[in-house]
Amino acid sequence: MKIRPRLLFALLSLLFLAYSLCIYLAPVMNTVHLGGHKTAEGRLIWQKYNCQSCHQLYGLGGYLGPDLTNILSSPGKDEKLVRAMIYSGTRQMPSFNMPEDELNLLIEFLKSTDASGISDPRQFKATNYGMIEAYETN
Ligand code: HEC
Repeated sequence: MKIRPRLLFALLSLLFLAYSLCIYLAPVMNTVHLGGHKTAEGRLIWQKYNCQSCHQLYGLGGYLGPDLTNILSSPGKDEKLVRAMIYSGTRQMPSFNMPEDELNLLIEFLKSTDASGISDPRQFKATNYGMIEAYETN
């Protein structure tokens, strides 16, 4: 069968457009999946203040500060501490003088990561063959 170049071009263009549409719609889909608009807006606040440069989510991100995926349910930590930390900072953590509504959205976002599962890299060890395994718990 002889494939006509024009037809091939049209077909590939169509596939390209369809694929692009999927890519651009993905964040919208994820928004719904993550639990609504507040969570998505909270994620934008997280990005706006670049928390990722020092903190990890699901083990990915900067390593100056701790992983914050499950910070809200970590032993000895709660929403109060998170709010105080973001507002006041410490020597290494800058204080973010953000408006109350931004802080609330950020908390919503951290609630959603917390609800999405447990992700503490310290609970896993790397094996010699490049996989990870959970540490034995007694
Ligand atoms: C310049 C790097 C840096 C940036 C940017 C940063 N942090 Fe931190 N953060 C740290 C460090 C370092 C610590 C640990 C400080 C300590 O324990 O004294 C910390 C601690 C925290 C803690 C307390 C964690 C715990 O286990 O006690 C929270 C909550 C937190 N950061 C939230 C945020 C949020 C939210 C943002 C974005 C708005 C942010 N941080 C941006 C460096 C940073």
